[in-house]
Amino acid sequence: MKAREIRKAFLDFFQDRGHTIVKSSSVIPHDDPSLLFTNAGMVQFKRTFLGEERRPYHRATTSQKCMRAGGKHNDLENVGRTARHHTFFEMLGNFSFGDYFKKEAVEYAWDFLTGVMGFPKDKLYATIHEGDVGMNLGPDDEAGGYWARYLPADRILHFPTKDNFWAMGDTGPCGPCSEILIDQGPEMGCGRPDCRPGCDCDRYLELWNLVFMQFNRQASGVLEPLPKPSIDTGMGLERTAAVIQKVPSNYDTDLFAPMMAKIAEVSGYHYGGNGEKDVSVKVIADHSRAAAFLIGDGALPSNEGRGYVLRRVIRRALRHGRFLGLHRPFLNEIAVAVMHAMEDAYPELLENRNYITRVILHEEERFNDTLDFGLKLLQNEIKRLQDDGSKTIPGSLIFKLYDTFGFPIDIVTDMARDLALMVDEPGFNELMDRQREQSRMFWKGSGEREISEAYRQLSAQGVATVFRGYESLEVDSSIIQAFPPVR
Ligand code: ALA
Repeated sequence: MKAREIRKAFLDFFQDRGHTIVKSSSVIPHDDPSLLFTNAGMVQFKRTFLGEERRPYHRATTSQKCMRAGGKHNDLENVGRTARHHTFFEMLGNFSFGDYFKKEAVEYAWDFLTGVMGFPKDKLYATIHEGDVGMNLGPDDEAGGYWARYLPADRILHFPTKDNFWAMGDTGPCGPCSEILIDQGPEMGCGRPDCRPGCDCDRYLELWNLVFMQFNRQASGVLEPLPKPSIDTGMGLERTAAVIQKVPSNYDTDLFAPMMAKIAEVSGYHYGGNGEKDVSVKVIADHSRAAAFLIGDGALPSNEGRGYVLRRVIRRALRHGRFLGLHRPFLNEIAVAVMHAMEDAYPELLENRNYITRVILHEEERFNDTLDFGLKLLQNEIKRLQDDGSKTIPGSLIFKLYDTFGFPIDIVTDMARDLALMVDEPGFNELMDRQREQSRMFWKGSGEREISEAYRQLSAQGVATVFRGYESLEVDSSIIQAFPPVR
């Protein structure tokens, strides 16, 4: 099955079971200041779960564009080092808004995985929440009971809150969850004698997370019950494709093939699996998708918030390009491969091709200038240090290069190695930690006001948002409420 067929099979399966197919929302959550990026399928339904917005359906299914880089769910550092981490990925999901709950969620998941996907029943495991006294939650015997219809007791595992309680962010909808894992066999594992479900390696791969949405976490940490228990699920398209296509990593699936081919073409390096250069290929492939989708959805490289993550992703890809010998702009070309790879599901990328490639190219040129400028500065500073008889590049210099010019530490380390100098990494890390702490304090959201209450009131009056952008480019509307209220 190709990825596009999996996507379709999933949506069709749930449509046949009364779910409305809903288009993916933007990967930039334009009206949610509590989130850096859309990090799960449920984000566009947040207000529906909270009872603030009514929709004309009680069941929905989506293939959602997601980004996990920064914020609560952050996979950036793992990308390239593992077979399955991504910044940008697609999440297949089914949702119930106060309609069905645990029983059907478990049944649907089992029927889809074993019936449609044909995964072997004896390789599947389920995990359930073991309960949490602090949260006043007992073990999830209800979900355990539904799983017991399909799985022997030794393949239903109890996990604590840190693994089996899902929350969108520090506030918002959340609840205990149940994950479905597939045993890919010892050859995909770490080989440690204690390797078992829950291990970090790829043997027991988490395929699908079923969240039993029950609470709205308040800023104070208090869990307030949702108006109606609901279902939010998420299955990673990339990893499902890897399992069904029997390939060792997501990067070997048809989803990534066009980018892998293009990277080989421009760099002359052919991906071989697990070496350092292969890490670079994976990083570039992943980040080219993130850059194309983020820009397509309205982000621009900048020095803060979402734009900063985009800038980091692009620069990280370029740095890895240099490891493959690519000193000229190239990422904009890989982004075109992304557009073609995603044409079926996301035709808007190709429609915005010129704009997206121009933004990436501009950032590539800027970064190349930065690198050249930073290298010159570094060389001068190193000469001064050597004249003074010093053997260590101070953390403050590396930090200044990084912070002011976006100059990556890896290049400093490489240069230091060539010149038999040491690098004050602890000093650099300390300054980085301080800066992270500061930006965490300063990131108060993307600038929008807390608008939940307004939505709640308007929704109670029957007011709903309608998207008209596909039919017309202009529309007259009346302002019915403004914050702060206009007097
Ligand atoms: N929202 C859940 C997750 O992202 C399904 O895992």
